[in-house]
Amino acid sequence: MNINRKIQTLDEFTIQQMRDFPNATGELAGLLRDIGLAAKRVHVEVNKAGLVDILGDHGTTNIQGEEVKKLDIFANNQFMGVLRHGISCAGIGSEEMDDIVVFDDEISNQSKYVCLFDPLDGSTNIDVNVSIGTIFSVFRRVSELGKPATKADFLQQGLKQVAAGYVIYGSSTMLVYATRRGANGFTLDQSIGEFTLSHPDIQCPPTGKIYSVNHGNYFRYDEKVKRYITACQQKTTETGGPYTQRYIGSMVADVHRSLIKGGIFMYPGTTDRPKGKLRLLYECNPFAFIMEIAGGKATDGQQRILEIQPTEVHQRTPFFVGSKLMMEELENS
Ligand code: AHG
Repeated sequence: MNINRKIQTLDEFTIQQMRDFPNATGELAGLLRDIGLAAKRVHVEVNKAGLVDILGDHGTTNIQGEEVKKLDIFANNQFMGVLRHGISCAGIGSEEMDDIVVFDDEISNQSKYVCLFDPLDGSTNIDVNVSIGTIFSVFRRVSELGKPATKADFLQQGLKQVAAGYVIYGSSTMLVYATRRGANGFTLDQSIGEFTLSHPDIQCPPTGKIYSVNHGNYFRYDEKVKRYITACQQKTTETGGPYTQRYIGSMVADVHRSLIKGGIFMYPGTTDRPKGKLRLLYECNPFAFIMEIAGGKATDGQQRILEIQPTEVHQRTPFFVGSKLMMEELENS
């Protein structure tokens, strides 16, 4: 191991990237710093989740008589708080809130960006100590600067994302984000309390061995999806075996694995829920953007996720994302 290798923190990295653009104002770097700060606070709480019996159950009062917020509400408040008090965000949309929140004040009205996020995805996995995550997406406003942000700022095609990323609270906590310049991953170094660059220029392998889907819904999928699943079971990989099926039920973890190792993640529509479960703006657009920047693909089964014109902030969509060749096999099945 090269112990002299320079550690680069998330802040250093975003500032360095900004220097390559003489007209950059630093707002995006500021936004990412704010998101990193909220992620560290959520990381601390997620790590205490197993102690709720001692510290107080979420949603109840703890031993000190303080109200213990449910973790997803806690996470929502953290992300909303840093973005509201920062100077880079004109408003937010959150999976936890019914409608967008516009920060209508003098500074926020001058901010170029709006942010959408799912503060704690996979939260049903908290009780069993399985990886969960935060997903975020950043758009440049289309409304007039100096005035409050509008819904049109949030209802943009995913293609228009300026940045998208996620935080995975797993065996280590990682923040991965992508801009048009590339996708990079930062691991939280708890000894210094900083996200440090650990996965520079992430490229999704063109194929992989793992397909990820909820098999419990198999009989509710359409014939094309069933054919692809059967093909995965019958196919042999380079090492001679069938594909492996893995499904954590926390898409941040499932898609992260697919991004790093190659693979495909699917949440198809079902006969009872034709649009599936996942939300276009909070979950699918950000992962589609990251995956495409890393060389992979993402569709709703018919069209590129990033080309869908959203009509409402909470809309759902079937979602297929992963390695380029596996996605092409799915398309041709
Ligand atoms: P939740 O945040 O309610 O736990 O939902 C998690 C999402 C996503 O992360 C995961 O891939 C999917 O729901 C799992 O849903 P199923 O249990 O229906 O497969």
